[in-house]
Amino acid sequence: MYLTRHEERIYRGDFGETLARALRVIVKVGESMGARKLINISHAHISGVGYSNIGDAGLEFLRDLVKEKLFFKVYTTANPGSVNVESVKYFSYSKEFIDKQLEILDIYRSLGVDVFTCAPYHVRTPRYGEHLSWAESNAILVANSLYGARTNKEAGVLALFSALTGKTYYAGLHITRERYPRVVINVKNPRREYTYLGLLGLYIGRLVGDKVPYIRGLGKLDIERIKTLLAAIGTTGSVGMSIIENISPEEPDILSKHTKYIEDRIEVEDKDIKFFEESSRELCDDPEVFIIGCPHVSPEFLLELRELLAKVDPKPKKPIWLFTPPIYSNISYLREILDELSRKGIYVIKSVCPVTSPLSELGYRCVGTTSSKALFYLPKLAKTRVALMDLQDIVRKVYEVGS
Ligand code: F3S
Repeated sequence: MYLTRHEERIYRGDFGETLARALRVIVKVGESMGARKLINISHAHISGVGYSNIGDAGLEFLRDLVKEKLFFKVYTTANPGSVNVESVKYFSYSKEFIDKQLEILDIYRSLGVDVFTCAPYHVRTPRYGEHLSWAESNAILVANSLYGARTNKEAGVLALFSALTGKTYYAGLHITRERYPRVVINVKNPRREYTYLGLLGLYIGRLVGDKVPYIRGLGKLDIERIKTLLAAIGTTGSVGMSIIENISPEEPDILSKHTKYIEDRIEVEDKDIKFFEESSRELCDDPEVFIIGCPHVSPEFLLELRELLAKVDPKPKKPIWLFTPPIYSNISYLREILDELSRKGIYVIKSVCPVTSPLSELGYRCVGTTSSKALFYLPKLAKTRVALMDLQDIVRKVYEVGS
């Protein structure tokens, strides 16, 4: 691989052994994907922030970075952890678990992480054509598919190395021809509910694997619904982007010139998705708590939820946890909405991931959610069962509307 003189110096260890190791790993991965050079990135997004993800080995590694007084070279955000100082009251994990989780967050902050959220695109909008190094599947799919920014689906540690060096390898989805769709997915009679779009995404992800799909027939969708679909595709598929009809900015160019790479055309109907839902084994039907915001919700979603709750009695019968990026409290119209939702009894929780957290240790057995990503991961990671429910059904159940 060609390296600039500055990159060569990093590679040789002129700026320390850790930076050298970080760059060597990026080069190695790049070479395995056929990259011939490195490129600068403008934003790194790190995953694997939860103590339950990275454990003691990961924490030790982070402590070493602090000892070496390293600092991220580019704007960096990171996924949320399982708990933070403000949310300890909701998540009474063991003292050791909380202490270590808080230490991880402190270390990342000292390295330069600006914000902890799994929806970094709600914090800084990705620019068309810019190069990123992001780890967090939903964020990657949103950046590539909705904004036309360019990132591969990186592992957490590789995004961390990119944050330290400001570099990634020029291969995969950074290259235009790798972004052309290989499979056309025609969706028949689509619906708008979150549960439908999530299950559709899980199904498409499994169908396409690592091939970029061109998804047609969905009509107009708002950002929260697009996110729901893309997060689910990223859950079951290894692909890092989709072209969505009338939504993806690269669609016009692809349609005019680059349809020759298409290998397959598939029609998806309701019965395919129903089959997929029925094959999910970890279902339950009487949730003790409801999780909304996996991934963290958009401003548009807050407006939708406020409208839905406008006429309900503000006494929920069961807790709803609403997960958001932290910055909404700094934006006055969003802060007002969040205050209004809190008055309706909703627990607004900032910068936390409940899904990669030991919820079963807190006694939760059945969790209701709108998220297909949570449907997929809660049983594996939080060791709870799941009731996949539409937003309206959650509101009906929690506020006993119409009963
Ligand atoms: Fe976010 Fe955790 Fe879901 S990081 S996307 S809330 S699994």
